[in-house]
Amino acid sequence: MHTVKTLIRDIPKAELHIHIEGSLEPELMFKISRRNGLSLPFHSVEEVRKAYKFTNLQSFLDIYYEGMRVLRQEQDFYDITRAYLERIHAQNVCHTEIFFDPQAHTVRGIPFETIVTGIHHALLDAQQQRGISSKLIMCFQRYLSVESAMETLHQALPFREWIIGVGLDSSELGHPPEKFIPVFAKALEEGFLTVAHAGEEGPAEYIWQALEKLKVSRIDHGVHCVEDARLVKKLIAEQIPLTVCPLSNVKLRIFNALSEHNLKQMLDSGLCVTVNSDDPAYFGGYITENFMAVQEALNLDHNDIYHLVKNSFQATFLNKKEKQDLLDRLEKFMSQYKQKGLVKDKDTFDRRGYPLLKI
Ligand code: HPA
Ligand code: ZN
Repeated sequence: MHTVKTLIRDIPKAELHIHIEGSLEPELMFKISRRNGLSLPFHSVEEVRKAYKFTNLQSFLDIYYEGMRVLRQEQDFYDITRAYLERIHAQNVCHTEIFFDPQAHTVRGIPFETIVTGIHHALLDAQQQRGISSKLIMCFQRYLSVESAMETLHQALPFREWIIGVGLDSSELGHPPEKFIPVFAKALEEGFLTVAHAGEEGPAEYIWQALEKLKVSRIDHGVHCVEDARLVKKLIAEQIPLTVCPLSNVKLRIFNALSEHNLKQMLDSGLCVTVNSDDPAYFGGYITENFMAVQEALNLDHNDIYHLVKNSFQATFLNKKEKQDLLDRLEKFMSQYKQKGLVKDKDTFDRRGYPLLKI
């Protein structure tokens, strides 16, 4: 018999919040550092993993920037992207929208072209060989200056065809979205979509700013929206997606435990919430591990999983036809899944026929 666990494993999924540098597993970190003749301050993979103890966002970011210093050549960016895509292929992810942090590399003298070319070629290969569709989103590090972000935007212009949008990440507190108004205005003018991390460590006010001053299409994290009823009402009315990252939120102590996470509360209130991994090599899992953990902690049922996946398909930056194809694929999957005889008791199905049983 199927369980909600097998549903999570088998259902076609989309990921909308993943920092590619945060998918760098220690094994690959060692391999690339050796290849580039660099030394790491660690002797073993176990030692690296032991160092992954975070108390807040900044304590993570310090280690995350340190780890990505091994990335120097186009091949390195290709390999890290390819490794992530192989992982998610095994998890039935059919579409992914990937962040990268160009400034974390250009500051070390790595050309913008090297970074984006390596990532782009891995995305192309995964599309051809694995059937995974993808988009690329360039993030500005918000603790750096607005001038640096503007310079990075200009570096991206020759690669506009490869990059769907711009985002905002790194240390949130003290760096409100409004700091980046001119850069986002220019990005919009150049045809990029916009997103921003907001309401992860920062207040609901930062979500307002991202929406109203940066014209974002999605909010990354956004879990602090619940502090502001007027904001929640707007997010629901306009179905503005929130890319929530449950394991990340616990590792960075946004919530004390997964059982205290507000994902289910937000989903039930009608918000367009999605489940994502953020930095899977650092936070204990890829998208399936996030779904599994949060399902268990919050007792999510089949219907919740279906809605979370449906939200993520609706929230993609694919065109209308591509989006509809994904949604059709989901409906087809669900109807086959039901036919296979999930549960016998008719009373446990909702009005669409999806099972409501909890495992
Ligand atoms: N928050 C902000 N910046 C980041 C994150 C995050 O969760 N992951 C990588 N950069
Ligand atoms: Zn993030």
